[in-house]
Amino acid sequence: MVTKHKELLKWVDEMTAMCQPDDVYWCDGSQDEYDNMIKVMVDAGMATPLNPEKKPGCYLFRSHPSDVARAELRTFIASKTQEDAGPTNNWIDPDELKATMTELYTGSMKGRTMYVIPYSMGPVGSFIAKIGVEITDSPYVVVNMKIMTRIGTKVLETLGDDGEFVRCLHSVGKPLAPGEKDLAWPCVPNVADKYISHFPEERMIWSYGSGYGGNALLGKKCFALRIAGVQARDEGWLAEHMLILKLTNPAGKSYYVCGAFPSACGKTNLAMLEPSFPGWKVETIGDDISWMKFGPDGRLYAINPESGFFGVVPGTSMQSNPNAMKTIQSNTIYTNVALTDDMDVWWEGCGTPAPDHLIDWKGNDWTPDSKETAAHSNARFTTPAAQCPVIAPEWEDPNGVPISAILIGGRRAATIPLVNESLSWQHGIFLGSIMGSEITTADITDKVGQVRRDPFAQLPFMGYHMGDYLKHWFNIGTKTDASKLPRIYFVNWFRKNAEGKFMWPGFGENSRVLRWIVERISGDAGAVETPIGNLPAPGAINLDGINVTDADMEQLLSVDSEAWLAEIVSIKENYKSYGNRLPKELAAELENLEKRLRS
Ligand code: GTP
Ligand code: SPV
Ligand code: MN
Repeated sequence: MVTKHKELLKWVDEMTAMCQPDDVYWCDGSQDEYDNMIKVMVDAGMATPLNPEKKPGCYLFRSHPSDVARAELRTFIASKTQEDAGPTNNWIDPDELKATMTELYTGSMKGRTMYVIPYSMGPVGSFIAKIGVEITDSPYVVVNMKIMTRIGTKVLETLGDDGEFVRCLHSVGKPLAPGEKDLAWPCVPNVADKYISHFPEERMIWSYGSGYGGNALLGKKCFALRIAGVQARDEGWLAEHMLILKLTNPAGKSYYVCGAFPSACGKTNLAMLEPSFPGWKVETIGDDISWMKFGPDGRLYAINPESGFFGVVPGTSMQSNPNAMKTIQSNTIYTNVALTDDMDVWWEGCGTPAPDHLIDWKGNDWTPDSKETAAHSNARFTTPAAQCPVIAPEWEDPNGVPISAILIGGRRAATIPLVNESLSWQHGIFLGSIMGSEITTADITDKVGQVRRDPFAQLPFMGYHMGDYLKHWFNIGTKTDASKLPRIYFVNWFRKNAEGKFMWPGFGENSRVLRWIVERISGDAGAVETPIGNLPAPGAINLDGINVTDADMEQLLSVDSEAWLAEIVSIKENYKSYGNRLPKELAAELENLEKRLRS
């Protein structure tokens, strides 16, 4: 018997009875287990081993073309009432959803093995960490979970006989008849039949029909953001879509910074950046999720609940993110990139020209004349955080690291300055509530150019009512002295000029902004107070060695009152959707902003 945990054994028995797998296998988390599972998948044609001389220990997977990213329209918050899910979530009555999904799950694992993966989000035993158990019929999920979280026997030991855990059930939804040959990527191809469901009151996740990323690796967005968000609300802490980095100045003083940016807006890049100045150093703690709790000294301490990076591949190069490139040279799972003739990988924006022949992410021959990209735009690497050359030595400290600043920011072509220091914690939450990105043609809607508000980059990752979530941030601020709270900075790397070109070089050059921020915290950098917040004083951001004209810099750091007044109209519209759950503090901040702009 692997565990004496009665509740866990009972749940596994119930799920086994429903899903009817041929076998049940409890993962021990060992390297042997990982190697065996990879071998089984290679033998079955689901994985391609890459050239061991170029990419030792690396494998390529190609997903089904219907299953390439998170399925937001099929993601549900099944709280007891629709009101609790709020205006930003898809809601289905939990009893109804369970009935629908029970039917889908019944016999869904026939012909397959059911894997039971005990896992810890956060260093095992940390006071901030939490335990989940994922049941899945996907060996791809098991090997990814091994990289992304801490799995296996040591977690069961920590769980003990009666520890609390989040129930996570996952099935790709493709039972096999006796003798039926498996597919390279089994899933439910019809998107409308996929369900990524959350039952927040029960701390339970049911995912069906997808094998990709956040739909299937249930420790990540489903647990660490949506369910943990509800736990954090109830228990007085924060579960956020944020990177965590450590910045050390030439005097040797270190600062820890979190940053909330929506998906594909630069967290992995910022977390690993190479600073532009000699003597400054950036080290990585995490690239996607931050769990923060108050320490005994009244400061907020953060852990990275993950142990790997599930990062966007296209655009990753020695130029844009050398540390990510070095991390993914070995022991990495690549999904949906292109394969070269010498069994290496290639993708758009990797820094080398496309070879004459490739096998694209769909498994077809590809040449530079092909109309489609060779790698999928959401191709991902799964790679161990410990391999990152700039991983901070304390990245697994069970006590976490004390946070000095929180950055927030989306993709905004206009209006939002390069960096803006909030006037207070409350004003910082206001800025967090209004962040968002312009809707692009890729979003397939008639709202192109309008801003989609994405408070704290949490829009797709909320487990409850967005208004209550913003109120929770205000509550957190009352739990300690204002001076101990991190300072909040609104940044925007994505300002565009009249020609539609980015005005700020971004990537490693973002270190110039990080430097201003920590010099503000230490009292060494100048700022001018404006109606929208504190902006860098002229010359306060060091521009040595980069090509940003004075005129561009002036624009990057200007306050366009007209544009802000138009912004206020759109914010008011957005706030209306929160109804009576809009925190009154936010209404007050908005009113004060308008007064300052008009005076
Ligand atoms: P998720 O893993 O989806 O949460 O994304 P992420 O926030 O970690 O984004 P990531 O760092 O993977 O970057 C996504 C895209 O943004 C890539 O195409 C990058 O090349 C691009 N990008 C990152 N940083 C910058 C920047 O400073 N400026 C510009 N212009 N583009 C950037
Ligand atoms: C994101 O979309 O923010 C990701 C990728 O980090 S996934 O894990 O698929 O959600
Ligand atoms: Mn993310």
